Amino acid sequence: MCGIVGYIGKKQAYPILIKGLKRLEYRGYDSTGVALINGSTRIFKRKGKVSDLEDNIANEDLSGTIGIGHTRWATHGEPNDENAHPHASHNGKFIVIHNGIIENYDRLKERLINRGYTFKSETDTEVLANLIEYIYLKGGKNVDAEIAVRLALSKVIGAYGIVVIATDEPDKLIAARKGSPLVIGIGEDEYLVASDATPIIEHTKSVIYLNNDNVAIIRRNELTLKTINNDELVPEIQHLTMDIGAIEKQGYDHFMLKEIFEQPQSITDTFRGRIAQDLSEIRLGGLYDVLPKLEQATRILIVACGTSWHAGLVGEYLIEEFARIPVEVEYGSEFRYRNPIIFKDDIVIAISQSGETADTLAAIELAKNAGATVIGICNVVGSSIPRETHAGVYTHAGPEIGVASTKAFTAQVTVLTMMALMLGKRKGVLDDTSYKKLIKELVAVPDKIQGILEQNEKFISIAELYKNVTNSLYLGRGFLFPVALEGALKLKEISYIHAEGYPAAEMKHGPIALIDKNMPVFVLATKDKSYDKIVTNIQEVKARNGIVIAIVTEGDTVIKGIADHILEVPKSHEAIAPLLTVVPLQLLSYHIAVMRGCNVDQPRNLAKSVTVE
Ligand code: G6P
Repeated sequence: MCGIVGYIGKKQAYPILIKGLKRLEYRGYDSTGVALINGSTRIFKRKGKVSDLEDNIANEDLSGTIGIGHTRWATHGEPNDENAHPHASHNGKFIVIHNGIIENYDRLKERLINRGYTFKSETDTEVLANLIEYIYLKGGKNVDAEIAVRLALSKVIGAYGIVVIATDEPDKLIAARKGSPLVIGIGEDEYLVASDATPIIEHTKSVIYLNNDNVAIIRRNELTLKTINNDELVPEIQHLTMDIGAIEKQGYDHFMLKEIFEQPQSITDTFRGRIAQDLSEIRLGGLYDVLPKLEQATRILIVACGTSWHAGLVGEYLIEEFARIPVEVEYGSEFRYRNPIIFKDDIVIAISQSGETADTLAAIELAKNAGATVIGICNVVGSSIPRETHAGVYTHAGPEIGVASTKAFTAQVTVLTMMALMLGKRKGVLDDTSYKKLIKELVAVPDKIQGILEQNEKFISIAELYKNVTNSLYLGRGFLFPVALEGALKLKEISYIHAEGYPAAEMKHGPIALIDKNMPVFVLATKDKSYDKIVTNIQEVKARNGIVIAIVTEGDTVIKGIADHILEVPKSHEAIAPLLTVVPLQLLSYHIAVMRGCNVDQPRNLAKSVTVE
């Protein structure tokens, strides 16, 4: 949450900062600001999106080869001009942009007020700016800007990724990280610093990912990396493999649509190199070190949030079905605060697109402290979760920019399917024939999704019919129950239509009371072992005049005769069906949201990378 970008070099900073902020806007988009150094330091900030700021300051002097920028998702204080970042300290000595939360900000603020400091905003970030300044001024000659930043951070409880300008030392940026991500790009006589690599990629592919408690002092042609306690570190330079095309819309109206249509490719990328050419074997290199523990596990706990939690639920069904290991799926936020029982031989799988979700990270820490083995399933390479876990598998879905997750979900489910099959085979639960048959089914998914995407016109016509409803219900059973939850989440988060996902049989314990002629019910009803039961559930909806939109297996004639609309997906094993059936639901949600005039890539109040609790 919140996007940070900084530039120091020979070029004009402002265009680089603005472009970078647009790339980071998925992290928060309620207010924006930049600070530029050119002799003096100028700050421009306001409520609204990056383009609003850009339009508003077009006639200002925006020169300067050093600058910082911020796009905000409000935590402390409503989105308004004053609360927007950057924040200047009381005497203007320090200018700070910040992603994260300073938990003890109110105590620090009180002490600063007692020492004569006044505040213009309600933010925790302004407290940090003033704390740094207070330490700097009090220390006199003995305390330079860097020391002041390090000392201030030692007094802070909470999470931060910050970039600081010291107006007395205007030749440098000071960046520091604890909890919230920061990446530094190394160019020729220039450096960029950002919350993720997307603003950096077009300038350089050499990057350093800051670790917790790292402080970087960045000059035009020199970078010093230390710990908060002043121990010098040798920076580990990594090479970005991301392609610039992957972070642009490439002709699509929205990133979400592009990402839905990318799924045949992203799923292929997820299993590329992990499934033997002759489809005889699955190899997940990132799990080799923990395989013996995994095979012997008596329990697997999956922790995740949002869409990743839904993928985790599919994982539960898959692992229990094929590897016969008991699985529990937990929200990161519940797990971390409910004193869970964790055994040393537990395997904890953390699933996260961003690799930065605060609650999932905290759950990982808890599990590690209890002695469990923690495996990550993440999309963003170099993010925090892969670095905090004992082993892991990258999903390799490519950058996902739309706030509503689509291709990350199918990539996560692909990894979980591979894990479940591999474990089932190694444990002797799955015989060789079934194992190979299922691998074949998995490898066929991209082509099958391509076929579903080609029915886009049909999704548009159904979206047209139901774009104005106020409530909706999503039903599924077995492997498709989590898909019902995911379908409902997709619709509510981008179109603001109330949507609930339910296990189909549970409908009669509550939601059935809501059904009337205005209530569309999306039913996942492909041919599997609960097919007859779900047909009964559809009859129950129709008996109450509900509207049924059923996702069925190609060629189904039974449901065609009962439902108002059917959307067909190719035949598959029931364990593979989540990967197929979710696609029509993604597209329906997308089209409905667009027809309602919603900003699908940046839905209200949401952010993609939730780095606060
Ligand atoms: C936010 C996003 C969701 C995402 C969830 C978990 O709520 O809007 O799309 O599923 O965070 O994020 P993660 O990066 O951990 O998968």
